[in-house]
Amino acid sequence: EKGGFDHFMLKEIFEQPKSIADCLRGRLLPEEALIQLGGIHNNLSKLAKAKRIVFVACGTSWHAGLVGEYLFEELARINVEVEYASEFRYRNPIIKEGDFIIAISQSGETADTMAALELAKSKGAIILGVCNVVGSSISRITDEGVYTHAGPEIGVASTKAFTAQVTVLTLMALATAKAKGTITDDVFRRIIFELDAIPAKVAEILKKSEEIKDISKLFTFAQNFIFLGRGLNFPVALEGALKLKEISYIHAEGYPAAEMKHGPIALIDEDMPVVFIATKDSSYEKVVSNIQEVKARKGRVIAIVSEGDVDVKKMVDFAIEIPNTHEILQPLLTAIPLQLLSYYIAVLRGRNVDQPRNLAKSVTVE
Ligand code: M6R
Repeated sequence: EKGGFDHFMLKEIFEQPKSIADCLRGRLLPEEALIQLGGIHNNLSKLAKAKRIVFVACGTSWHAGLVGEYLFEELARINVEVEYASEFRYRNPIIKEGDFIIAISQSGETADTMAALELAKSKGAIILGVCNVVGSSISRITDEGVYTHAGPEIGVASTKAFTAQVTVLTLMALATAKAKGTITDDVFRRIIFELDAIPAKVAEILKKSEEIKDISKLFTFAQNFIFLGRGLNFPVALEGALKLKEISYIHAEGYPAAEMKHGPIALIDEDMPVVFIATKDSSYEKVVSNIQEVKARKGRVIAIVSEGDVDVKKMVDFAIEIPNTHEILQPLLTAIPLQLLSYYIAVLRGRNVDQPRNLAKSVTVE
């Protein structure tokens, strides 16, 4: 049942070229330069006119929501908020006509996310869902939605569900931008062409698993970890830290790289491993100077870099190269080496990676 893998988590990490392709199938039509999302067909034109989108989610799904925030703001120019479902539901949230509340949930059964939707619905909002489990409670309560089609995720640590959520949010943001006219045909075509190439690029990254395993051997006994990224890769840094803490029990924190100076830099010394997402994008130069700041304080740096990178490679202890893609699609690639890094560190520490202590696959109590 684990398909020859030691754990479900590893199997699910390796399934990602397929799960992302499954998620795109029939929706992304690169030849026709078209995106078809039957699941939100009735609401797409309203979504294009939305005043505001609020994503409600927990855990990894909340991180996917943060990526969605960048995507919808950048492509569709819609104001987005990303809320922890548990916080949203216990406030008196302001919901106005024309607002969309979108729940993101792998299981579709998370109690707080479900309750946040019920509240939004009672206030008259249009509610949509991005769920993996077909027929789940959240998929049933929502007006419409887009399934992630990642297949069953057994490992408690979410991996393929996350990349499928980001894939769906990318499709939704692109379709909305197209309907709204905030994207040129040229840019639209370029992005969907690159999106179509993502599964093969994920497969390329997975070929580096032995290299990543070797790196993880040197960090097995770390007590702490910091993950840093900017822009779209900031939520990936949060996700990398969550993955590591939940399966290896190493204390890990994710931050936007520029926030480091406002506190966390005090933690840096030779015992502090720092993982940087330092791919070629619009904040590359800034991230390079953040890496310099860490190296000047003797932090040990593992960096995720773009193929052909020279500058970062010279500065860091370990660099993991990943293929280039359009900037807004980077989270689909940068997340993968971080999943593998966490997995190998946890296995080397002898942890039960598929069923970490104190955690349940779906949190149906609040
Ligand atoms: O099923 P959901 O996506 O609603 O679950 C949300 C979180 O409980 C979940 O993402 C959790 O954080 C995972 N263990 C992360 O790996």
